[in-house]
Amino acid sequence: AATPAPTGGRVLLAAPRGYCAGVDRAVETVEKALEVYGAPVYVRKQIVHNKYVVETLESRGAVFVDETEEVPEGATVIFSAHGVAPVVHDEARQRSLKTIDATCPLVTKVHNEARRFAAADFDILLIGHEGHEEVVGTSGEAPEHIHLVDGPEGVDDVVVRDPERVVWLSQTTLSVDETLETVRRLKQRFPLLQDPPSDDICYATQNRQVAIKDVAARSDVVIVVGSRNSSNSVRLVEVSLEYGAKAAYLVDYASECRDEWLAGVSTVGVTSGASVPEILVRDVLAWLAERGFGEVEEVRSAQESLLFALPAELRRDIKAAQ
Ligand code: F3S
Repeated sequence: AATPAPTGGRVLLAAPRGYCAGVDRAVETVEKALEVYGAPVYVRKQIVHNKYVVETLESRGAVFVDETEEVPEGATVIFSAHGVAPVVHDEARQRSLKTIDATCPLVTKVHNEARRFAAADFDILLIGHEGHEEVVGTSGEAPEHIHLVDGPEGVDDVVVRDPERVVWLSQTTLSVDETLETVRRLKQRFPLLQDPPSDDICYATQNRQVAIKDVAARSDVVIVVGSRNSSNSVRLVEVSLEYGAKAAYLVDYASECRDEWLAGVSTVGVTSGASVPEILVRDVLAWLAERGFGEVEEVRSAQESLLFALPAELRRDIKAAQ
């Protein structure tokens, strides 16, 4: 049967959404580096996990590589917002690379915690997604002490040396609810498990999840703008489904939206991940408006004002170039 034509309805636009302070800083780091040093500027891994951002920077002269060894000796390389293991800094030194570290300060905070607890000879249970760049970087701070726990199902496999000296830390972009469940199960196994000194799931991840919970509960379907390899964006899809949306879709671009998603729908929730420029959300809103969903109500659950200074090594060179 043919899909019934959408009848129109309204849009609930979640806020906060989109760029966090760490992404804003990382993207600006590449832009400024291109201005100060000229192209090409090498970037190890995707500077942030967003297709559009990476393609735009590529078109301006950024060269994205997977490993430091792909960067020519003596060239400038930027480390992405997700952070790197100390061994990557060593490799860069050996190749005489000039490095600019765009690691989000909130990821660096977790690295510092990992180093501190490892120095105190704790076993560190790092809750995170196996293979994610941030987890690889954080684990590299203390590979002997860190055990990865990939969600509640990973809890039973954990083996520690001394159950009285264990702490949990986490990736910054996890589902808050799922992480609480993982910690609950870990504490059943290790009653003396210590909590991190402060939240590792960052403010931006938390705020975007709180905002979409409210929107999803009042929406038939939710469209999340974000890339598939963006952890916090994928979590927004999961949270939308848990909180009442009948369906939730992840799109990089408005052109990926499908008419059939709107069949029988009267309210569409919209949000975007922390690495997503607002222009991509505007495109989705325009796509919806063309289909009768032109009435947009912003639903805000928090104000954000955090800003991070550019990496010190870049600020020095910007000043010197003036
Ligand atoms: Fe940093 Fe959180 Fe953004 S860790 S890069 S502020 S999603």
